[in-house]
Amino acid sequence: MSERVLKVYDSNMYSNNINSNGNCTHNHTKNRTKITDEVKMHSAKRYHETNCMQRKDALDTILEYESIFRWTPEGNDTLLDIGCGTGDVTMDYIVPMAPPGSRIVAGDKSIEMVEYASTNFPHPRITYEELDIEKENHVNEILKKYGQFQHITSFCCLHWAMNQYEIMENIFNLLQPGGEVLMTVFQHHPLYEYYADMSENPKWSLYRPEMKISTSPYFRNENPEKELFLRIERAGFVDINVVLKERMYPFDSQVFIDSTVPVAPFLDHISQSHKDEFLQGYIEKVLTMKLPPPYRSNKERNDKKTIIPFCMLVAHARKPTHASTVLSP
Ligand SMILES: C[S@@+](CC[C@H](N)C(=O)[O-])C[C@H]1O[C@@H](n2cnc3c(N)ncnc32)[C@H](O)[C@@H]1O
Repeated sequence: MSERVLKVYDSNMYSNNINSNGNCTHNHTKNRTKITDEVKMHSAKRYHETNCMQRKDALDTILEYESIFRWTPEGNDTLLDIGCGTGDVTMDYIVPMAPPGSRIVAGDKSIEMVEYASTNFPHPRITYEELDIEKENHVNEILKKYGQFQHITSFCCLHWAMNQYEIMENIFNLLQPGGEVLMTVFQHHPLYEYYADMSENPKWSLYRPEMKISTSPYFRNENPEKELFLRIERAGFVDINVVLKERMYPFDSQVFIDSTVPVAPFLDHISQSHKDEFLQGYIEKVLTMKLPPPYRSNKERNDKKTIIPFCMLVAHARKPTHASTVLSP
């Protein structure tokens, strides 16, 4: 996977620069159709069979950031992995990074994911739990059961959340004073471009709300690093570093096609003919889209690979050592 760092924001550039209106500027909306009440990834097996891009991205991020993790001298740290999905990233990459005496809680809002992870990736140091990071009662349950954590990781998950400020506050509350968080958040992906195109087409207008909430809140944002930075800062974090990374992943072409449905869960709620037509249009877009030099488009090459360019926000931040935490009763 190739990579280019676009911009870096860190605390030195933005200290005390809190967004005064405090509003999210993204397009997520609560006015949705009745197709689904919320978009939930639930095709655990299909996701696991096709998550090579997410796995590579998590591994690259861990390899780059593991040296700044501050483990305790005793090595009995606690770590919470939010949005663990099928559990393979937690087991294959997070377990080896953490000290041998550490305990890991891996949470996901999808019960199907939690069950799949518990069955397929059990590990004596990991406990899988249902956790929707947007839900205060879930957060409080985790706090009651495990207390606050010294480390939090979250890979390829938080762009699904409707309320970005609330989740940053929840992550803050889940951390011990002095604790740290490492997160990756999708900012750009060809699927978001396709959703934007399709939303303009009256034929697909019924699905517009689902497509909106399946799109990253940082997509087409003028300054996504700054947006994310301000949200993290407003929650109370310090030593914040946010980087926007442009990456390219060469999928085997069939795996690319198979990878789309698990990350576009609303497709499971529409008719087969609509689904086929929707996917066909997306594949055509990906085949013909321009790729950065020196790459020729996916259609022009004959290497059985489908190259997907995407942008990822990577953020690391710490909770101040003397921070107080407001816990709900
Ligand atoms: C693309 S998968 C990433 C899984 C894993 N971290 C990885 O890197 O392969 C995103 C996961 O985030 C979960 N998720 C989405 N919104 C969430 C939320 N509000 N709270 C917890 N998990 C959430 C989804 O159910 C899904 O399993």
